[in-house]
Amino acid sequence: MSEIAQNQNSYRLEGENLKVFTFPAPILKQIAKPVTTFDQNLQQLVKDMLFTMYHAPGIGLAAPQVGSSLRLFVMDVDFDREKTLNAEGNTEWKYTNFNPRVFINPVFKQKDGELVYEEGCLSVPGIYENVKRAEHVIVEYQDVHGAKHTIEAEGTLAVCLQHENDHLDGIVFLERLSPLKRQFLTKKFLKAKKG
Ligand code: NI
Repeated sequence: MSEIAQNQNSYRLEGENLKVFTFPAPILKQIAKPVTTFDQNLQQLVKDMLFTMYHAPGIGLAAPQVGSSLRLFVMDVDFDREKTLNAEGNTEWKYTNFNPRVFINPVFKQKDGELVYEEGCLSVPGIYENVKRAEHVIVEYQDVHGAKHTIEAEGTLAVCLQHENDHLDGIVFLERLSPLKRQFLTKKFLKAKKG
């Protein structure tokens, strides 16, 4: 989209804004399948997912959220988004500091420590709640070409990796809460969704 492309040092984004499925869509409950074909279709899906994530905006997006039951997610925990007014007085968004990441077939090799972090989710819009996660993780994954990598992460990045990986196992963050909180927020969300 033009607002991103016009920016200097920008990650050039071309793609389609995909439909994001919201809770309780059945696809969000499925266990996603491993990616086995690293072809152009996969590259296009990744592009479209990044495009969709930045424009939502969100810091992470998993394939099941856009209707593809595959073990893959995209993420950017570093980008900034600033609201400005143009000469006509219309709102424009300025994006900077892109750091797009793609994780395919991720496997957690280590999880330790404990961290409470306020999470939200593009599939549960409007709901934010503290979730307890591991503070430090080591994850093996593949890139869009199928090459294997390992990442060691802590803090926001570690939280985001766990949140997105949950989507691949059919879990939304509401399910990581105490039964009482989960019930309360689920009702609140479904009521708001109905309008
Ligand atoms: Ni999510």
